[in-house]
Amino acid sequence: MEDYEYKKVDFNNPSFMFTIEDMLKNMIGVPLFYNPYFKTFGLKGNENVLDFGCGGGSSSRALLKFLSRGGNLTAIDASDFWIKKARKRLEKYTNATFMAGDIRNLYIKDNLFDVISIIHVIHDISPEDRKDTVGAICRKLKQGGRIYIREPIKKSHGMPVDEIRALFNDCELREKDYIISKSEYRGIFAISP
Ligand SMILES: C[S@@+](CC[C@H](N)C(=O)[O-])C[C@H]1O[C@@H](n2cnc3c(N)ncnc32)[C@H](O)[C@@H]1O
Repeated sequence: MEDYEYKKVDFNNPSFMFTIEDMLKNMIGVPLFYNPYFKTFGLKGNENVLDFGCGGGSSSRALLKFLSRGGNLTAIDASDFWIKKARKRLEKYTNATFMAGDIRNLYIKDNLFDVISIIHVIHDISPEDRKDTVGAICRKLKQGGRIYIREPIKKSHGMPVDEIRALFNDCELREKDYIISKSEYRGIFAISP
């Protein structure tokens, strides 16, 4: 794990490249990347879903399409800049709630979500805050619910697979499925029976 270098990113002052990446995600990322991925969640449409680290809201927009039967989406991001962007992009959705801040301090009931989606967020949290943050996320999951997580795993940009597994195992979640490519870990965790 010590080979992995944590690079702190200032998400409230995104670089030009990062804003271009966000624009592309919003235009082509939704049909090409998010929709096919969220299809694998098997949502019925009435679930309570958390998009943790939603960024500019492209993933939230895609998730909302799968929640048209009474479902609700909560989108959280630590950055005021990105949550503002997400809220503006998705203002027409009455079943979406946006929250800026640290999940460890936000007022959100425990055992609330059927599904929690985390896409490329935990590696951006400082290593000493990861355990408590993942602990807070896990407490928000309903019994029988699932956490879907994707994280980059390259040493130059990412975090170790063992650390991802340990973080969720520490809060009594078990890995139900996973795929590991050269650059990314993709997994599903659920509360152990
Ligand atoms: C690489 S971006 C990924 C954004 C989005 N999930 C996507 O798929 O495009 C990482 C996001 O995580 C957010 N983030 C970082 N630390 C966070 C934390 N402790 N709680 C919530 N969001 C956080 C950042 O503000 C940023 O929007």
